Amino acid sequence: MAVKRGMAKHAALAILSAIVLSLSCLLAGCSGGGEAGNGPASSASQGAGGGAGASPDRSGPIKIGFAMDTLLEERWLRDRDLFKAAAEALGAEVVIAAANGDDAKQISQAETMIGEGVDILVIVPHNAAATAAIVKRAHSSGIKVLAYDRLVNNADIDLYVSFDNEKVGELQAEAILKQVPRGKFVYIGGADTDNNAHMFKQGVFNVIQPLIDSGRIRVVYDQWSKDWLPASALANMRAALEANGGRVDAVIAANDATAGGVVQALAEKGLAGRIPVAGQDADLAAAQRIVEGTQTMTVYKPIQLLAEKAAELAFKLARGEDPGADRKVNNGKIEVPSVLLSPIAVDKSNIDETIIAEGFHSREDVYKNAKQADR
Ligand code: BGC
Repeated sequence: MAVKRGMAKHAALAILSAIVLSLSCLLAGCSGGGEAGNGPASSASQGAGGGAGASPDRSGPIKIGFAMDTLLEERWLRDRDLFKAAAEALGAEVVIAAANGDDAKQISQAETMIGEGVDILVIVPHNAAATAAIVKRAHSSGIKVLAYDRLVNNADIDLYVSFDNEKVGELQAEAILKQVPRGKFVYIGGADTDNNAHMFKQGVFNVIQPLIDSGRIRVVYDQWSKDWLPASALANMRAALEANGGRVDAVIAANDATAGGVVQALAEKGLAGRIPVAGQDADLAAAQRIVEGTQTMTVYKPIQLLAEKAAELAFKLARGEDPGADRKVNNGKIEVPSVLLSPIAVDKSNIDETIIAEGFHSREDVYKNAKQADR
């Protein structure tokens, strides 16, 4: 449905709306500008056009609601800042909220944004299933929804902008196989509730399944890590080592935070640096582990490209224009129009010309703890 713009504000309705909004903010936990908090981190209280149920205010600049899962992990702070900057450069106003892993909170934060009259909702779902409710709610108010980085399942989502997430897993497996072409493999997955975690795993198994079938590889442990928590990955890796008498040959962890838990468990057994470990995100800690030799590789996803592409296409969707998606990804309900960017495998050999050359991390930070010989 094309977005209707240019509706006039009515003073009495605005006052009523402000009261309704304040009440819904109270319920939703809006902080009105807090960092890594629960509520909108920018422009939250400006131009309130209506509480939930009232007609959204569609006057003024394009207003984008960015409903994030969490700001408790390194990468999402970067996503938040880059997305906000890119959207503002296009002339949009951005309202941001982070639910920090709480599904009910994410739904209520998105409802608040819908009530405030955002023109488009951009969502990083914590839970791929639970957030389908938000898509319905937005659509019933004539607001389109863009899934940012993570897909919403079983919903009529309008656009999905992400990286090629199966490719992420394929790059991990290919890099590990170069080090260890056979043996006992451990897979430490991400959050079961995140569709990406399933895509990453699919990618890994696309590559290793033929070797499993031929008997060259045996997956001796394979578990999800609750909410992507390093502590859950640590517990999983301890269990993997325990179950195999400390004898495993390679570990693929779904991201760098979980890889951190894995390396800690390996270190407890004196095995850090002796068993190849893959991760993803090019987190600073992972980049440091790579140059120090305790992590084999990471998958670098240039967040700036994602944030800029998502902002540009959110803007187009809000104006009722065709975003020009060239891919389709099935979410269990529809073939979602998608734009998928390319991830890049990074190890010791190309860390300088990738994440350091592009300014993702400084050379000084990455090599901070590395021995002179490794620099
Ligand atoms: C993202 C990863 C991230 C993970 C945990 C995934 O959906 O694609 O980059 O590490 O969530 O936040």
